[in-house]
Amino acid sequence: MSRDLKALVAQMTLEEKAGMCSGKDFWRLKSVPRLDIPEVMVSDGPHGLRKQAGEADHLGINDSILAVCFPAACATAASFDRQLLRTMGDALGQECQAENVSVLLGPAINIKRSPLCGRNFEYFSEDPYLAGELAAAQVEGVQSHHVGTSLKHYAANNQEHMRMTCSSDMDERTLREIYLAGFETVVKKAHPYTLMCSYNQVNGEYASENKHLLTEILRDEWGFDGYVMSDWGAVNDRVKGLEAGLELEMPASGGVTDAEIVAAVKEGRLDEAVLDRAVERILDVLFRYADNREDAVFDRNAHHQLSAELEKECAVLLKNEGVLPLNRSQKIAYIGGFAKTPRFQGGGSSHINSCQVSNALDCALAKGHVEYALGFAHDKDEMDEKLQAEAVEAARKADVAVIFAGLPDSFESEGYDRSHMHIPACQNQLIEQIAAVQPNTVVVLHNGSPVEMPWADKVSAILEMYLGGQGVGIATDALLFGEANPCGHLPETFPLQLEDNPSYLNFPGDGKHVKYAEGVFVGYRYYDKKKMAVRFPFGHGLSYTTFAYSNLRLSSPKLEDGGKVTVQLDITNTGLMAGKAVAQLYVRDLTGTGGRPDKELKGFEKVMLRPGECKTVSMELDARSLSWYSEELGDWYAAAGKYQLLVGASSADIRLTGELEFVTDRRLPFTVSPTTTLGEIMADPRLAPFVTEMIKSFNFTGDQDSEVASAAVNAEMAAQIMVGMPLRALRSFGSFSAEQLSGLISQLNGLLAQ
Ligand code: BGC
Repeated sequence: MSRDLKALVAQMTLEEKAGMCSGKDFWRLKSVPRLDIPEVMVSDGPHGLRKQAGEADHLGINDSILAVCFPAACATAASFDRQLLRTMGDALGQECQAENVSVLLGPAINIKRSPLCGRNFEYFSEDPYLAGELAAAQVEGVQSHHVGTSLKHYAANNQEHMRMTCSSDMDERTLREIYLAGFETVVKKAHPYTLMCSYNQVNGEYASENKHLLTEILRDEWGFDGYVMSDWGAVNDRVKGLEAGLELEMPASGGVTDAEIVAAVKEGRLDEAVLDRAVERILDVLFRYADNREDAVFDRNAHHQLSAELEKECAVLLKNEGVLPLNRSQKIAYIGGFAKTPRFQGGGSSHINSCQVSNALDCALAKGHVEYALGFAHDKDEMDEKLQAEAVEAARKADVAVIFAGLPDSFESEGYDRSHMHIPACQNQLIEQIAAVQPNTVVVLHNGSPVEMPWADKVSAILEMYLGGQGVGIATDALLFGEANPCGHLPETFPLQLEDNPSYLNFPGDGKHVKYAEGVFVGYRYYDKKKMAVRFPFGHGLSYTTFAYSNLRLSSPKLEDGGKVTVQLDITNTGLMAGKAVAQLYVRDLTGTGGRPDKELKGFEKVMLRPGECKTVSMELDARSLSWYSEELGDWYAAAGKYQLLVGASSADIRLTGELEFVTDRRLPFTVSPTTTLGEIMADPRLAPFVTEMIKSFNFTGDQDSEVASAAVNAEMAAQIMVGMPLRALRSFGSFSAEQLSGLISQLNGLLAQ
């Protein structure tokens, strides 16, 4: 149904229009019954429906309806599977239609800059390409039901410490390449109905009133066509925010900011057309939902099963020396509070009132026998020698010990950051004790963010479940016993220790500002460049079968600017069990451009393969896949020349390499001036030949026949020293007159202009 929204807005009073720009209450927008504008509701998000019927709050404290908790983004990101996110989104969209929720508040795609961010469990990755691709699929799934999403938190909200006021300070290149790129992908590919601005400031300006972010980038560059809502309580200056591009304030402001908008219009401080446009955008999204209501049901049982199916594809087998999969006839000891009470979701606004939760112990007992010893409680860090002794004894007597470890709720949550990367000391101690008496020790982890594993080399297997949603018990059981084959891959690096993380010296800042001093070197971009050892690299994930990668080929060895190249390879299942492989495609710049990461993820594809089966995987690259953000150009840029393509099973397990040549006439702006260095000139193929000839005639190195002189500066050294020499130095060392120098400069600029 097409509506004339301009005409509708024209019928609204100034007060009605201002009122439309803030919530009616915690979760609802205002209706205008006389104009048939209905009341609509929004709800968290992102991995389940937190619809509050009674008393509202934004920290997940009060009850919400019974719903289904799917795996959190920390887990779904590990699937490296767009279809999985689409399926989950589709289920959430159905639930929203059934519960009359017009917008689901998510997905949340902030970059995992530090493992300490309390909300990392809700976020996807340290890599913006992966985060953007997966979140776009989730948005498509939800919105296929005409239910909106709210892509959040825009932007650079990478910590909880002082999140409502702190300024995330970084250069434009870092902002674009790392912190905005995921948002850009989702906006361009999946057209989210709404975006949620973050609480924090970015370079000294609140995200809620940041015109550069909300209008210049989001709308003018990316073509966003929905509306922006504030995070709950993120509005600083309402009128400034409206002008900058913040349409909806949430939650209600008790009428205070509506009155501010009315006054600003009446006093001529705010153009009424700005208000009209904001209302039109809000109504547009509102009617996309209201005009397309579906007769949906919220099938909690089916979605509970779905949550388990999804989690089977998300868990990451980090280590396996052959002890997994287990066999039900083995003598197995389950240890740890998480076996019975798994941690499957995080705390805060995403907290779901789960209709049921499965646990690994009950699932194992339903199919066979396992011994169980508590060892430690799931919710606290408390040594209990008696419990520990019982657990060690149970482990010693068994063929295999499986320890269910992880982070208690209080260790990570929305609202605050972690101060360390440890799991509780009682767990570390028990794992060490058990590994000392039982060679077949398996650790199953329940955590939303990387943890230090001092015992990693002493245990035989580690299975990372992340925060796996309410089906986690079913999934864990299937994976441990080989009824499902692990196929998740880490969407983030697990460093050996917190201090290795690139943001360590600057996180979380002084409370007012946080400097993103590591620039674009976030996650593997940093560890790779530094050639640092890590516990588990980005993209890592094992399987119960093995895969061979072969036959890397390109549709063309050259990529023309504006064109595309298809990259193909074959993957064969060389083991005995059906399984899914993830091909990861990284790009390395070989053009000599400085300041670039060693390699960056630019493609991935997951494939299911039966034993012996071989399939071809295809991925596409374009100029953007090779580009970095040039502040000088105010645009993305890739230099002409060679790029290496690396395909592997993780960022550290590269199986195939190839080369691609990028063909473009585009260059960074370059004008020769007296301060341009000889090095810069030599690096430009248009100028290099000319200058090489000229330099030959100079005698920078003095009398090379003299032994003393050549020991001090030989020709090779002189060449290197010259790289940094500005042209104006020719007056001192090349006996150039001022006229000769300016003549040379115009000659060089003439060559550039040709
Ligand atoms: C969170 C948002 C959430 C909102 C509503 C805020 O505290 O940052 O992610 O959607 O509350 O619950």
